[in-house]
Amino acid sequence: MDGNGRWAQSRGLPRVMGHHAGVEALKTTLRLCSDWGITALTAYAFSTENWSRPGDEVNFLLTLFERVLQKELQSLETEQVRIRFLGDLDGLPEKLQGLIQDAEERTSANTGIHLNVCTNYGGRRELVRATQRLAARAASGDLEPQNIDENTVAAELFTAGEQDPDLLIRTSGEHRISNFLLWQLAYAEIHVTDVFWPDFDAEALKKALLDYQSRNRRFGGLDPISP
Ligand code: IPE
Ligand code: MG
Repeated sequence: MDGNGRWAQSRGLPRVMGHHAGVEALKTTLRLCSDWGITALTAYAFSTENWSRPGDEVNFLLTLFERVLQKELQSLETEQVRIRFLGDLDGLPEKLQGLIQDAEERTSANTGIHLNVCTNYGGRRELVRATQRLAARAASGDLEPQNIDENTVAAELFTAGEQDPDLLIRTSGEHRISNFLLWQLAYAEIHVTDVFWPDFDAEALKKALLDYQSRNRRFGGLDPISP
């Protein structure tokens, strides 16, 4: 969800107003995805690198997550959204951890779209954590190293049980992965748009989906009809 700060600055507003507006874009996108039959939406809300921002901005973001969770939980429940937070949640303020746990529990049986919010998330850290967990299982005799395969690794990631994303939407014109879902994005199609995240709307999502539909996904193979 990149470009919040630039969106605000281009309007002469403080950066944090961009984060505020970004929440509305996420709500809009979630509703559109749900209406259009998309089964999972994973948003990158706060990375392990974002702690290096000025303290005021970090505090604003963490407080914003708390406020939004409190305000939106009821509608997530009624709209059958199943919300999960992916990342090192232990590193978050205790109040936020409590709200996250409550939201995950209260929506766990919901049958609609899966909303995954990557919070204090880093792709490399996720892989290190998975490696440590597998090593611990191997050391305890629970797992034979030669039995470690892609499924065993995937099951130790925060995304365990989720399908890999089909489409990565990169807003604000940046062309990089920025430590997002490094394992899971192996075969994702990438759509880059110059739109700043707070301006991301139905038109922008439709463009991304049409771009995705135009791709020919071969997963390393060949077209069935190629000579
Ligand atoms: C939002 O956009 C991403 C978050 C950390 C919430 P940015 O804050 O990175 O916006 P820009 O890149 O400064 O425009
Ligand atoms: Mg940015």
